[in-house]
Amino acid sequence: MKPRDLGRALCIITGASKGFGRTLALQLSCLLKPRSVLMLVARTTEQLNQLKEDIITLYGGQNQLDVCCVQADLEKKEGVEKTVQAAKETSVSEMDHLLLINNAGAFEFLNDEKFWESMVWGNVRGPWQKHTADNRQRLISCSECFVIMCAAGPLDTDMQLQARLSSGDLQLRRSFSLMFSEGQLLSCEESGAKLMKLLLDNDYQSGAHLDFYEL
Ligand SMILES: NC(=O)c1ccc[n+]([C@@H]2O[C@H](COP(=O)([O-])OP(=O)(O)OC[C@H]3O[C@@H](n4cnc5c(N)ncnc54)[C@H](OP(=O)(O)O)[C@@H]3O)[C@@H](O)[C@H]2O)c1
Repeated sequence: MKPRDLGRALCIITGASKGFGRTLALQLSCLLKPRSVLMLVARTTEQLNQLKEDIITLYGGQNQLDVCCVQADLEKKEGVEKTVQAAKETSVSEMDHLLLINNAGAFEFLNDEKFWESMVWGNVRGPWQKHTADNRQRLISCSECFVIMCAAGPLDTDMQLQARLSSGDLQLRRSFSLMFSEGQLLSCEESGAKLMKLLLDNDYQSGAHLDFYEL
């Protein structure tokens, strides 16, 4: 029988202040064993603190999670370093896993080359992955590392709203608006539930690219 929890873990969720990241934090908070650490990372402190409070209220402290908020801009090297430092400072002894949900992202529509770089997160994922690789052994004694890329589907979040309202690309704006009006957007809960099942079943291949519609 496969375990129905994710063990005791240090779980880092980037972009946890709203949208998909927030939902994942709530869903993961009931799958982590007591004395796990849930680290919520984003730029907006108020929303992170609110999420922390919601998680504590939800379980009345019974799940014994250590929820910590890290205010960091992951587009900046200092933000990545601050997050890595915070992770290193957590109590990680006897952890089963280090789980990094690299979810932070932004969608802007400027005709600016620099913007496109940041949209694909050259600035974020590059340094973040390098830091985690360098520090992984120090963060947690871990013999195996699994990486999956998961396409969560078109989610009904602020990012979608922004895409519908402010895309400079008319075609794109129309197609996002059509998806919205035809009810094709997914809820974060629905998409997150598939990811939770995937993690619990633990039968994915490292390096896999997975799509919501194929799960
Ligand atoms: N919505 C969709 O249809 C869709 C489709 C495909 C992929 N995705 C991807 O799914 C992920 C979540 O998207 P979402 O729809 O939930 O978007 P969202 O509601 O706009 O949330 C984005 C999250 O990323 C954080 N973030 C943005 N820039 C950041 C930065 N520089 N440093 C740290 N945190 C930052 C935001 O928090 P702060 O503003 O507080 O920093 C927020 O928590 C993104 O990577 C997105 O590209 C979304």
